[in-house]
Amino acid sequence: MQIEFGSDSLESAAHDAAGALFFHEGQVDVSTLEGPARGAVQRALETARFKGAQGEVLEILAPAGIKAARIVLVGVGPRGEDEGLALESFAGYAVKALLTSGVRKLELFVGDASPENAARAAFGAQLAAYRFDRYRTTGKPEKQPSIQVVKVNTRDPGRARAAHTAWASLADAIAFSRDLISEPPNILYPAEFARRVQALERLGLVVEVLGEKQLTELGMNALLSVGQGSRRESQLLVVRWDGGPEGQAPLAFVGKGVCFDSGGLTLKAGKNMDSMKWDMAGAAAVAGVMHALAGRRARVNAVGILGLVENMPDGQAQRPADVITSMSGQTIEIISTDAEGRVVLSDALWYCQNRFEPRVMVDLATLTGASQVALGVEYAALFSNTAAIAASLVEAGKAEDELLWQLPLSRRLENQLDSTVADLKNLGEPAGGAIVAALFVQRFVNGVPWAHLDITPTVWPSPSTFPTVPDGARGFGVRLLNRWVADNYED
Ligand code: BES
Ligand code: ZN
Ligand code: ZN
Repeated sequence: MQIEFGSDSLESAAHDAAGALFFHEGQVDVSTLEGPARGAVQRALETARFKGAQGEVLEILAPAGIKAARIVLVGVGPRGEDEGLALESFAGYAVKALLTSGVRKLELFVGDASPENAARAAFGAQLAAYRFDRYRTTGKPEKQPSIQVVKVNTRDPGRARAAHTAWASLADAIAFSRDLISEPPNILYPAEFARRVQALERLGLVVEVLGEKQLTELGMNALLSVGQGSRRESQLLVVRWDGGPEGQAPLAFVGKGVCFDSGGLTLKAGKNMDSMKWDMAGAAAVAGVMHALAGRRARVNAVGILGLVENMPDGQAQRPADVITSMSGQTIEIISTDAEGRVVLSDALWYCQNRFEPRVMVDLATLTGASQVALGVEYAALFSNTAAIAASLVEAGKAEDELLWQLPLSRRLENQLDSTVADLKNLGEPAGGAIVAALFVQRFVNGVPWAHLDITPTVWPSPSTFPTVPDGARGFGVRLLNRWVADNYED
């Protein structure tokens, strides 16, 4: 799909195009339109109950007196503070409504929006048009996307086009993350994940791949224990972006990358086990953030650590009751082989702080179903040992519509990690499951300023009610952390 900028009016939209207009709730006003378009829109509004509510879409087919094949009116809800997000959702709803409609060209009219916000509309269109079609061979023609071109019409197309460059690069990073999450687990196992991240060296990232031999030498027995029942080799990726002053401590992002979580010997039930292909979404978010930072040549040093394993049951698999010695030296009693994410993170976080002495560490993981039970689909769970970091993450999330809700690192639950034979065990009570998992992870951050995002709720909205997210992988975390870095760690 091609993005263009211009300054056409609805009157001059092409024959095969659909022209889209947006309205804020309670402000449905056609006075800025001219000629026959005004009459056509006015009539349609009179006969429909269009109020401009968020997500409301009204289509006018072949309106009399104008060339365009359709006019689409899109509601974006009440006028709020963030007009950029409103324009993204405008474009998103329009694309969702028309993607497979047969229309080839979508012309968006953004009125007197700033060039930055006009660019946001183009970005919203790109996100909404994302598809993961790699494995479809018999798609019906009427299900194929028909939109080839999205043109944003604005007062200053030149400045909008310039502003769009950065957003287009972010859209690429999000698509990269969504692709990883969408891939089936027979294709995307740890070594293949590593190859795809290595291909990002073209952006200027430096990628190191550590295999089982090196991980054994480093003493990462916790991470290795999770993968030991799999025929696929476990991998740890170190991805570096050095865009800041030499010697400045990096920001660190650590991702859970369980390419498939069967539960191991503590086998999961069959129902919905397929969703465990996206148990690597934390690692995919980290890969996406590094892509985004390199894509815009961020003036910051950052490192991404991806713990990639497959959690499978076989004769070599770890058992409930096994005790392993993690890289930190702390021993872990495995009670459930299905509480494996925290075990992977324990070594990945310890390695990260030990080698890089980062300014701050943020981990992302699909760690618990409990976080999803608590928060639904819109908010990911946030935990942090530093109030200012939590606050800045929440702010960045609001600006990018990737929302976070903080939960407590409740000390009263620490005793649930007590083991009768080891330093700690990997399973507590079901009550407060997301908190217990976060407390486990905290044992391996060694006092470094840290935040933990349990992104289980937000990875895979299906069906999706988000305007810029198709059903399936959202790519959650990429926009959020890219913004967080830009707003807090770059001058
Ligand atoms: N990968 C799962 C968490 C998960 C659940 C992700 C649902 C996405 C959707 C994780 O490894 C897991 O199995 N967690 C257990 C923890 C329990 C054994 C303490 C869970 O949430 O049930
Ligand atoms: Zn699990
Ligand atoms: Zn898991």
